[in-house]
Amino acid sequence: MTDPIAKTLDETGPASRRDFIKGSSMLLAGGAIPASMPRSNLTKSGGEPIRVGLIGCGVRGTAIALQALNPLHGDVRLVAVGDVFEDRLQQAMRALRSGPNRDRVEVDPQRRFVGLDAYRKVIESDVELLILAAPPGFRPFHFAATIAAGKHVFAEKPIATDAPGVRQFLATCQEATDRKLAVAVGLQRRHEPAYQATIAKLQEGAIGRINFCRAYWNQGASWSRPRAKQQTELEYQLRNWGYFNWLSGDHIVEQHVHNLDVINWLLGGHPERAQGVGGRQVRTGAEFGQVYDHHTVEFTYRSGVKLLSMCRQMPNCWNAVGEFAHGSEGWADIAAGKIFDLDNQLIWEADPVRRGHAGELESLFAALRSGIFPNEGLYAAESTMTAIMGRMATYSGKEVTWSRCLNSSLSLADVSALRTLHDAAPCQPDADGQYEVLQPDAEVSNIL
Ligand SMILES: NC(=O)c1ccc[n+]([C@@H]2O[C@H](COP(=O)([O-])OP(=O)(O)OC[C@H]3O[C@@H](n4cnc5c(N)ncnc54)[C@H](O)[C@@H]3O)[C@@H](O)[C@H]2O)c1
Repeated sequence: MTDPIAKTLDETGPASRRDFIKGSSMLLAGGAIPASMPRSNLTKSGGEPIRVGLIGCGVRGTAIALQALNPLHGDVRLVAVGDVFEDRLQQAMRALRSGPNRDRVEVDPQRRFVGLDAYRKVIESDVELLILAAPPGFRPFHFAATIAAGKHVFAEKPIATDAPGVRQFLATCQEATDRKLAVAVGLQRRHEPAYQATIAKLQEGAIGRINFCRAYWNQGASWSRPRAKQQTELEYQLRNWGYFNWLSGDHIVEQHVHNLDVINWLLGGHPERAQGVGGRQVRTGAEFGQVYDHHTVEFTYRSGVKLLSMCRQMPNCWNAVGEFAHGSEGWADIAAGKIFDLDNQLIWEADPVRRGHAGELESLFAALRSGIFPNEGLYAAESTMTAIMGRMATYSGKEVTWSRCLNSSLSLADVSALRTLHDAAPCQPDADGQYEVLQPDAEVSNIL
């Protein structure tokens, strides 16, 4: 039976989905905020402090916290932090205390929480906005707890690693809307003026009818951390989360979601079908967990437009991170902000200045200070689900449909049941220490 929330995303007409997304992107573009948008319960003038908490004190969480404290956002204070590991928390605290806005770091020792329940203690601290930057497998669970406690959210992408997680995230987004809480998601290309201008040009018809798109995240090797003595299996997986599907969703979900999101944005919705190839060619050892090292997927959108998507983590190969659109009158390098005619002559170029991650937080704080609550959750869920659908296609070797993937009941882990690092890890190695890597002839019920 179709889950009612999945049904919403599945059957939301393109028009209402576009309206929903347009509401958020107007804020991102710094445009006038429509009076009809719901008002936030956190309306603060530039002078009043906004109290922020951080869950997941890793590389990205620390960087977001540092950026949040920029005086451009008015008075923002970091007041509570939590991580499953003490060393990661201390590392983040050192970076925050030596950062340019260290006077805004007000994290007393009693508001530094360690362990699998640290998220709850940060939420219960006197915070108004939570940064959720633990591995994505925890995102739907941490997000639900944060919204239930009535706090605004900046959540890193992707927002889940399996379809039940996407559906849980969507249900919580609805609750956030009902409770007038902001939901921002770290798909920063949506906040980049060059991307916004290029997508707008393409949607106005700059290359005629769009027939075909391409999206890439091909890079070299990724980081891993060696197994330490005395480490439990769960601790090992949490420290190497990128290699375990329950935590990362595979790199097609964890990284390539950015590029798939750009194409969904351009085409105004999600694909209907996908089929693809993928596997582990170079990263075959147990230290690489269960994820593939390459995926190539052909997605088909409702309009018939095809998207060729490719992602790879392999050293000494052709690397590319970006998105392209091909139309009846030209083509575009979207990441470069360049549009060409059919003779490959440049006909339009976006302002070359790139803002990186700055825009996403600027628009969130500007919205909160204006009493507006943006909700970027629908498009983030749609793009995360697109990436999961791509993984389901390469893992199964079959053609898969949006409806079947979105309604999949296959849950990769019950993270709410994890209490201590001695609990059994959701993915177990075999007697030789190898993890199960799904092969394209596997039972489809193991995949979706
Ligand atoms: N938007 C972007 O450009 C961008 C870039 C990098 C990473 N990210 C995203 O940010 C997130 C974090 O990535 P990262 O690179 O910082 O990884 P990281 O490994 O550096 O940080 C993750 C942190 O979460 C902690 N953690 C693990 N489980 C936890 C739990 N249950 N509760 C609390 N803390 C927990 C880890 O100990 C670690 O400190 C991921 O979702 C990733 O996809 C986004």
